[in-house]
Amino acid sequence: QPLDTFATRLLAWFEHHGRHDLPWQHPRTPYRVWLSEIMLQQTQVATVIPYFLRFVQSFPTLPDLAAADNDTLMAHWAGLGYYARARNLHAAARRCVELHGGDLPRDLDALLALPGIGRSTAGAILSQAWNDPFPILDGNVKRVLTRYHGIAGHPGLPAVEKPLWALAAQHVADVPQGRMADWTQAQMDFGATLCTRANPACILCPLQESCAAHAQGRVDSLPTPKPG
Ligand code: ADE
Ligand code: SF4
Repeated sequence: QPLDTFATRLLAWFEHHGRHDLPWQHPRTPYRVWLSEIMLQQTQVATVIPYFLRFVQSFPTLPDLAAADNDTLMAHWAGLGYYARARNLHAAARRCVELHGGDLPRDLDALLALPGIGRSTAGAILSQAWNDPFPILDGNVKRVLTRYHGIAGHPGLPAVEKPLWALAAQHVADVPQGRMADWTQAQMDFGATLCTRANPACILCPLQESCAAHAQGRVDSLPTPKPG
């Protein structure tokens, strides 16, 4: 594997500047990773943490969540918003009990078949729970990749999203064995704290010398806003 790549540079950055103390990282079980990723789909880390802790306190395992009554589960979610996520979580937990022995399946298609899990969330689960080599492409990663590779066009458009997934997969190929969980978290943390939407800290960026947007003076115009 090449030693100096987008992936290896971001992984080195992550060692010192990434988040290593998130509650779902200790212990990092498939159930806890899944629960955190659903909560983090539309909610910031700082808001999610107390909800996550109350959830795992009340429902320590996936079968506990599946067996919860709906009112109790909804009371635990109250305030987090996007309540379809809680309904999907409950339905997915029950399906895992029925079909997968009470565990989350370690399989992309089986994960995608569960309610509330799209391709990026499935990649985040497989990578963080098992270190399996699957890419993610959430809003943070889209922003970083459009800038680093200088890709114009709104990243929500299929014609832009498709090459972004291909690039995300190419970078996964440069990630050393056993580092996929760190790789997923590194990209989230980099997008959330350094290559931010407004005022990214390019001066502190370990990728600056190979970043297309930086070289071309296009950092502030990428990613391309939604048309219309
Ligand atoms: N957003 C989605 N997943 C996340 C994670 N693991 N850490 C921080 N932000 C996230
Ligand atoms: Fe993002 Fe700036 Fe780094 Fe490019 S140089 S990846 S725009 S922080």
